[in-house]
Amino acid sequence: MLNIAVLVSGSGTNLQAIIDAIESGSIHGARICLVLSNNYGAYALERAKRAGIDAKVLSPGDFASRDHFNEALQDEVTGSGADLVVLAGFLCVIPEKMVKAYENRIINIHPSLIPSFCGTGYYGLKVHEAALERGVRISGATVHFVDSGTDTGPIILQKAVEVASDDTPKSLQRRIMEQAEWKILPEAIDMIATGRVRVEGRKVTII
Ligand code: GRF
Repeated sequence: MLNIAVLVSGSGTNLQAIIDAIESGSIHGARICLVLSNNYGAYALERAKRAGIDAKVLSPGDFASRDHFNEALQDEVTGSGADLVVLAGFLCVIPEKMVKAYENRIINIHPSLIPSFCGTGYYGLKVHEAALERGVRISGATVHFVDSGTDTGPIILQKAVEVASDDTPKSLQRRIMEQAEWKILPEAIDMIATGRVRVEGRKVTII
């Protein structure tokens, strides 16, 4: 059984997709051992509660320094017995020490086709604003392992989504969530839980 810690900051629709996929059996051999938010107001906490999952808040503002927060974050994840950490809209940077300790065991969902519209500053609606500004016809989502860079780790899955001529950042964000994120994040977790993902350097092989 793969223990998953899901780290969240916001509405938690990706968390919900994982919960639903575990319940429906499309994710095999995995359970969520912890939901952790950096934000007391995250609706994701309510979703966790409703699903009977242990949910915790660690807010950076409650700690004397970022280092103290980072330490508490890693302790909490380690203490939960997580084998895999899923960043599902988590807006804090994962500390270097934790990235090393969990090499190829932290995954992130990013709402674009990496390497487009990713890296520092590309989060939330900013990603979709940039895609529309550039006039791309196709965008999408990417699930990747987390390394020490921003959105630079090995790519596990990607799914393309068409951009409509009348899209706003919000409508594009929603379509990418519905058509890509909520599908490929649970799919990637299932592939990891069933041992089908091999990583060599920056290349991922699905077996
Ligand atoms: C998603 O768009 C995800 O790709 C990004 O943050 C958003 C989180 O949404 N990293 P939710 O909290 O899962 O609803």
